[in-house]
Amino acid sequence: MAAARRLFSFHHLALHPRAPARPLAAAVAVAVPHRRGKHDAVTCKATGKTKAKSKAKAGGKGGERLQRRPLEEHLKRRTRSAAAFDADLYGRHGHAHHVPVLLGEVLAAFRRPRSLRSFVDCTVGAAGHSLAMMEAHPEMELYVGMDIDPTALEIGRGHIETFLAGREGNGAEDSSLQGTLRAYTHVKNFKYIKQVLGSVDESLAVGSSGVDGILIDLGMSSMQVNRSNRGFSILQDGPLDMRMDPKATLRAEDILNSWPELEVGRILRDYGEESNWQFLQKQIVKAREMGGLHSTGDLVKLIQRKCNVSKGRQGWIKTATRVFQALRIAVNDELRVLEDSLHSSFDCLATGGRLAVISFHSLEDRIVKKTFLELIHGGEADDEEDDEDDLALPDIDDEDEPWFNQRLQGRNGIVLTKRPITPSQEEEKLNQRCRSAKLRVIQKA
Ligand SMILES: C[S@@+](CC[C@H](N)C(=O)[O-])C[C@H]1O[C@@H](n2cnc3c(N)ncnc32)[C@H](O)[C@@H]1O
Repeated sequence: MAAARRLFSFHHLALHPRAPARPLAAAVAVAVPHRRGKHDAVTCKATGKTKAKSKAKAGGKGGERLQRRPLEEHLKRRTRSAAAFDADLYGRHGHAHHVPVLLGEVLAAFRRPRSLRSFVDCTVGAAGHSLAMMEAHPEMELYVGMDIDPTALEIGRGHIETFLAGREGNGAEDSSLQGTLRAYTHVKNFKYIKQVLGSVDESLAVGSSGVDGILIDLGMSSMQVNRSNRGFSILQDGPLDMRMDPKATLRAEDILNSWPELEVGRILRDYGEESNWQFLQKQIVKAREMGGLHSTGDLVKLIQRKCNVSKGRQGWIKTATRVFQALRIAVNDELRVLEDSLHSSFDCLATGGRLAVISFHSLEDRIVKKTFLELIHGGEADDEEDDEDDLALPDIDDEDEPWFNQRLQGRNGIVLTKRPITPSQEEEKLNQRCRSAKLRVIQKA
């Protein structure tokens, strides 16, 4: 495995673009002063689905439509972040490459229970979260950033270097700046978190000390979606690629043009939750007789031809979104990687350390929720959707962190977010891409 790239002292930023992995320069002798899948709709006892449905039925079809909106809004309110929206924070750490989601909420998740001496960002991207964490935690001594996409990491690394260089400049005048930050970045799938930490500091890999905080911000960054050559966007024509790791061999085109018909259907059904999966599976395989599908435009046109409308759940836009999601998950084996990585990451935490995960669709969120339960109970979790009895449990009121209003305690840890935290209305106005984001946080006992 390639060695991590350390950002050595800023006086010696020998950052070679082709180096496989590197520590971010940073024996920086500085420190600064010290964020509804289907099942979410079931979580409300008092205003439960059954009640709302029967009310809606009473009003007939029109009534149903009128009821849906307030109900959706009511359900959203149950998980919306209660943290005050800090526009300045987004102004400082959001930029053209990517606007980090649930930024204030991520910062709040790592404010307690201990000082954050070591932090791992498993999905650096443009480094928005990383920089905000460094800024908020001048006590940080070790930072490790990972990303599977070398292009994304190169951009994120650049932002980190600029930030740390600026901090070094201020360090001389700011007496609150303490200690030395060792910062490393690594082009690596986060499923290898143990190996990466081991290459940085052996004691971290064997779990004797562990790290204080780990963040996994799933999905794609804007810079990936906006680049047509990556094949992630339904709106721009490009190759049917969809690989997060450019060195991986499997592309979406391979699945569409050569995988067995039943496998294509399974992917659309299981990873896209697409109700028309059988029909689409047949159309995709039929297209092979005409030479196959070779661009995102080809795939979108096939979907457009088969969907009569553009809007609504059966419209081409939503159908294409589900089909693209299914292919991306399959190409990058995203769900298995996520589940394995949650276990590995939890192993890497120090006692009292926290793992925060931001997911963007219900398949991911279900895995995070279920795996967190397994982790705190040390075994198989009940995979039931939120059940009503569970909701009858009294909220635990913690004066220190009231925004974690319901917790689940197990022998190995605490799930701090019985319900996920979702973006505030202010954040949704600022960044539409955050709308489906959900944050869940777990703390190791
Ligand atoms: C939503 S972006 C992260 C944005 C980042 N938090 C920020 O503030 O700029 C997700 C990133 O995770 C990376 N990624 C996706 N799957 C990964 C994996 N299995 N291992 C490592 N990185 C991954 C993507 O390449 C992408 O850069």
